[in-house]
Formats: sequence, structure tokens, C-alpha cells
Amino acid sequence: MTTAKPQIVDPQAHDAFCTFARSMGLDPDDLWVGRYVDYEWKHSRYVFEHACHSLKGQQALEFGCNYGATAIVLATLGVTVTAIDIDEQYIELAKLNAARYGLSEKITFLHVTDTTRLPFEAAQFHLASCNSVLEYVPADVLQKVQHEIDRVLAKNGLIFIAGTSNRIWPKEVHSGKWCVNYLPPRLDHILFAGQSLERGVFPWQILRGFGDYQNADLASNGKAYLAAKASMGIPQNRLQILRITNRLLGLFGITVGLITPSISVTLRKA
Ligand SMILES: C[S@@+](CC[C@H](N)C(=O)[O-])C[C@H]1O[C@@H](n2cnc3c(N)ncnc32)[C@H](O)[C@@H]1O
Repeated sequence: MTTAKPQIVDPQAHDAFCTFARSMGLDPDDLWVGRYVDYEWKHSRYVFEHACHSLKGQQALEFGCNYGATAIVLATLGVTVTAIDIDEQYIELAKLNAARYGLSEKITFLHVTDTTRLPFEAAQFHLASCNSVLEYVPADVLQKVQHEIDRVLAKNGLIFIAGTSNRIWPKEVHSGKWCVNYLPPRLDHILFAGQSLERGVFPWQILRGFGDYQNADLASNGKAYLAAKASMGIPQNRLQILRITNRLLGLFGITVGLITPSISVTLRKA
């Protein structure tokens, strides 16, 4: 049975969302604001669906939830979601976003100022989603944050990593700057006139940083990863390249989602 796409069902909450977004200087019609849920429905939703047989009734942590897009997608799939962010205004906008989709009861939004200490019990969640977020966590606390996500995830739980800028790539995906990934941040003030630029995260920080985890994509020979990509509608020739690369990398115990410009990998807690 296919799940119906999230729909805006509450016009009052929709108006409140648009007004609040404008007050934050955001365009509510922008893809990465008001249409972000549609984007994630066509992308991360397939990663969740192909990796899990049954999502209904699972407890998920959406880490770094921003305006709530992935949280809303997970809730639409029947997951009970706790969504956190370090930005209080984002959390307020995310609450209005969930309200316009009629999903307020399925998602608990929390503003957490220090994500190296999460206000949750150990092993409370079955799933954790880190969608386009780990590269924004300051490098000196990243591992602490990863250990904290590990602490709140149950044994055999899954961590979904997606959209994470990959530091092995010559062009950093968010800034679009060449070679910045290869330069230490302390040189930014000389090379980029004091502007501090983002860096990606190294694949091995993702693979090893949470603790004792198995690469679930490797365990399934990339089946779920490639099925998700196919569902997203990527062209056949690109899909074929991913398939062949994945097969070759598999000989070395690596999966293709670890070497793409944006890292995408699903980890299972041992
Ligand atoms: C691109 S957005 C994430 C999108 C969101 N995960 C989704 O899929 O809808 C990046 C988010 O990371 C949050 N963030 C940055 N540093 C963080 C930290 N240390 N802990 C948690 N969230 C953080 C930002 O506030 C921002 O909302």
C-alpha cells in the first residue's frame, strides 16, 4: 500500500507559517522553505522506505530538523518523531509547518541549545535521521554529538545519513568553492578575507564516529540505496554508474554513497 503524500490541510496554520517565515526574512514559496517537504518526499522518503520493512510505530529522532521537512515526511510514513534543532526560531517555524500539514500530534519539536547533551533516555529511539546536518556541527564537538546520538539509539537501531557534504571532494557542495575542503579552517581569514567557509565531513568520521556500527548499505550489497535512487527518478545511465561503482567498491568494503559529493549511508547499531 502506498502512503499518500503530505498535504497542507490547515489554511490558518498555512497563513501563520507564511507570515512567520516572512518575519524571519524567508520566502515561504522557496524550495528550501515552504516546498522543502515536497522535496524530501521525493528524496529521503525513499531512503526510509527502502531501508525499513515497517516504519509504522517506530520512534525516530530527527537531528537538526530545521523547518521540519524530514520530520514531516517521517510522520507521514507513520513514524512518531522527536525533532530537535539548536535554532529556536527554526523550531517555531517547524511547529507551524507541521500544523499546516495536520501533523502536530505526531511530532514533538524541541529546541536544544547544546546537542552534545540530549534530553532523552538511553536507547529511546529506533531510528535517527541526520539529513544535511553533520557538516554544520562544529568539528571540535562532532564526535561528542555522534556519541550522544548513539547513546539515545536502541541496539539494532538505524542512523540515516544523507545530504552531508563530503570532505574528500574537491568542490564543497554548499559553498561551491573549489579545494576549500583540502584547506585547514585556520587559513580562512587569510585566503577568504575573514569569511569562515563550511567544510564537509570525511566519510570515515561518519562510519566510525558514532561507535560500533555496521554499514547497512554494504550488508545489503547496496540494494536499498540503489532502489531508493531509482525511486527518486535519477537517469538510467547514472543509476548504472552508481551500480557498477558500488559493486567495485564493495570489494574494498566501501559503498558508493560514501564517495559521492553528498554522503548518503545507512548505519546499523551493533
Ligand atoms: C540543512 S538544515 C537540516 C535539514 C533537516 N534535517 C531536514 O531534513 O529537513 C541544517 C540544520 O542543522 C542545524 N544545526 C546546526 N548545528 C547544529 C548542531 N550542533 N546540532 C543540531 N543541529 C544543528 C541548523 O540549525 C539547521 O537547521
